[in-house]
Amino acid sequence: MKIAHFSRWGFLMAAAGAAVGLGNIWKFPYVAGQYGGGAFVLVYLLTVVFVGFSVMIAEMLIGYLGRRDGVGAFEHLAPRHKNKWKYAGFMALFGTLVMFYYSVVIGWIFHYILMSFGTLPASVPEAEAIYDQFIKHDIWEQILFHTMAFLITTTVLVRGIKGGIEKFNLVLMPTLILIIIGMLIYAMNMESFAKAVEYMFVPDWTKLTSEAFAVAVGHAFFTLSLGMGSIMIYSASLPKESNLVRASLFVITTDTLIALAAGLFLFTFLFQYGAQPAKGPGLVFISLPTVFHAMGNVGNVLAVLFFMALAFAGLTSAVSLVEPMVQYLIDRWNMSRFKAAVSMGLFFYFFGIIAILSQIESTSALFSCGGKTFFDWMDYLTSAVLLPFAGLLMAVFVGFIMEKERVASVLKTQMGWFYPIWRFNIRFVAPVALVFVMLNLMGIIEF
Ligand code: PFF
Repeated sequence: MKIAHFSRWGFLMAAAGAAVGLGNIWKFPYVAGQYGGGAFVLVYLLTVVFVGFSVMIAEMLIGYLGRRDGVGAFEHLAPRHKNKWKYAGFMALFGTLVMFYYSVVIGWIFHYILMSFGTLPASVPEAEAIYDQFIKHDIWEQILFHTMAFLITTTVLVRGIKGGIEKFNLVLMPTLILIIIGMLIYAMNMESFAKAVEYMFVPDWTKLTSEAFAVAVGHAFFTLSLGMGSIMIYSASLPKESNLVRASLFVITTDTLIALAAGLFLFTFLFQYGAQPAKGPGLVFISLPTVFHAMGNVGNVLAVLFFMALAFAGLTSAVSLVEPMVQYLIDRWNMSRFKAAVSMGLFFYFFGIIAILSQIESTSALFSCGGKTFFDWMDYLTSAVLLPFAGLLMAVFVGFIMEKERVASVLKTQMGWFYPIWRFNIRFVAPVALVFVMLNLMGIIEF
């Protein structure tokens, strides 16, 4: 197999780069706002600790022992029915459909970086009008920024594990972390910080519907990049004798702290300037720019830094979303890395354009069905069905199918007393949680 190795630190940054993405800074604050704050955050945190952590170790284990593309890893590790288990690998590859809309959102962020150098909108109606104009009418501008996202992602992928992915993450991730810490410190000196803490950490149980519960669990998976083969393919390049438990702990801690920090400073800013927290997807594109406007010149500096951090988070995740397919083409179709990266880049680029057209007023009807645009369908399909289903297959595979001794040989010494708890989690808790998410988000069960 032609898989290169990360350095230890390179792997940690790359895996954290995959996990920390638009999900942390754009999605987490707005879903937490939509579903009422504290109670949602608590369910999300519990899921991260009790389910996310266990599934991440399982996904890393498949990659680490498989040492090849996702499909090949399942085939290689299944003791029997190899032919059937390879479909679990294909399921994970389908999760990369997230990229159909992900790189479009990165394009929006580029647009907002540029905007932050000039005059920011002064009121919510004005900000809404700018956002609507851009999403629903500015087709060429969106395509231009989407093209930039595609070019950056593809260039990194062409350069491979060491020269591309590792280097990219080693620069972008520490910068991103510094910006987030800076923003948090700035917010801590504001009066409304206490209010933001209360909003995020004091649960109001009446707001916790079954849907909120499922969204929190689903988000925990999305934000940790589980069930897509991204963590798995990076783990195929882990140095020998790596400690998977410590690596998983690092990734989930970084991911969670960044989401919490982003939530805290965003809500502080919003409360301080009297903006609404429950704004939905427009939170960072509509409410936040008006807050930056109210801050004066400092606001412009903060806005540029904030949108840059968001772009960095998005790009490192985008790279991890495409890499599983690239490695698949290299391993199974014998393609060169260049050809594999460019053809996959173009593939996702094409569908990204469809996602853009599906939101443009004059073409939306052509690319929508059942009341959802293509963009919304991809978001729904991946978070309600593909991710949880692939995650479920991974949990079942490691919990029930792989030889017990093989799993234990790596994890028992690394985990110590936690091993039986992990095993119980991966066999029972994770599958139940994942089935619940799928059934709830598909509208089959509610309470
Ligand atoms: N974890 C990323 C985020 O929070 O934005 C999104 C993501 C990237 C999901 C890669 C899945 C994945 F494989």
